[in-house]
Amino acid sequence: MSKPVLEVSDLRVSFAHPLGVVRAVDGVSFSLASGERLGLAGESGCGKSTMALAILRMIRPPGRIDGGSVRLDGEELSGLDEEAMRRLRLAGIALVPQGSMNSLNPVMRIGQQIEDALADHDLSLSRAALDARIADLLSTVGLRPTVARMYPHELSGGMKQRACIAIAICLRPRVIIADEPTSALDVVVQRQVMETLARVQKDLGAAVILVGHDMGLMAQFVDRLGIMYAGRLVEVAPVGEMVTAPRHPYTRALISSLPSLEHRGGLQGIPGLAPLLRDLPPGCAFHPRCPLAFERCRREPPTLQAVGENAVVACHLAEAGA
Ligand SMILES: Nc1ncnc2c1ncn2[C@@H]1O[C@H](COP(=O)(O)OP(=O)(O)O)[C@@H](O)[C@H]1O
Ligand SMILES: [Mg+2]
Repeated sequence: MSKPVLEVSDLRVSFAHPLGVVRAVDGVSFSLASGERLGLAGESGCGKSTMALAILRMIRPPGRIDGGSVRLDGEELSGLDEEAMRRLRLAGIALVPQGSMNSLNPVMRIGQQIEDALADHDLSLSRAALDARIADLLSTVGLRPTVARMYPHELSGGMKQRACIAIAICLRPRVIIADEPTSALDVVVQRQVMETLARVQKDLGAAVILVGHDMGLMAQFVDRLGIMYAGRLVEVAPVGEMVTAPRHPYTRALISSLPSLEHRGGLQGIPGLAPLLRDLPPGCAFHPRCPLAFERCRREPPTLQAVGENAVVACHLAEAGA
């Protein structure tokens, strides 16, 4: 595999809460190869968005980053000051935040919003060059140049999401993090937005982290898939392996809950409730819902172990070679 463009190691984020501290991201490590597409899936509340924000050091109180390291092309980001970090957002790592299509400025034309993103990073272009740049960005995401003169309310959901992608990529980042970019869209538009993201990513040669909870959709788009549970990564594997031979019981439950031709009954769902992060059980956080849990799982939290060539899994069973 090529040299990693992004390396996250032992990243930890907590939220101070009246009833105790919530560890929303609890020692997450992974790396992203240049040009790679990595998916991050897991139930709502497992820490996906918090991790995306933590990579860019955008966690706000009551949240805080407790530790860990993030390296972009080998450069450690935790040492950068606020100004350097601000420049790095968009230019190095661009985030399409969850719900971003609803946070476009309603009283500002799309072209102006792209221009602001460009200007924010002091790109001194002439008016004509700027207009050409904006038209070019819009066409990259499959929007007509006339969209520059439109307001958000004049666009469909899919068009708004494309506009957000155009803003995110305006400085040709090396890494794009897209947090649930399609969750509010209907199925056909979801696919179109995914295809747009794939094309943009290829054009730029950027790596992508795609955050979502729809494993079926993600599996068609990513090279590798990471599964999060209760603030931790529990399995990371090439997507083909993950789908055909999932190793973690939680991954298996996620996959068998996908509607498929064989399981025409529809969603199976995962038995039990998603855990409360401020009140996690001892041992493996998944053990109360795990059909295969044994004594050790109630006692000792499993750590990520390499299995096979490109996969890691945090499960005592997988470790035991089962
Ligand atoms: N602003 C916040 N204040 C307090 N707790 C938060 C805040 N944002 C997130 N959390 C906590 O972090 C957990 C993970 O949230 P999040 O990263 O949004 O999950 P996901 O994106 O996987 O749905 C939540 O369950 C919640 O306990
Ligand atoms: Mg989220």
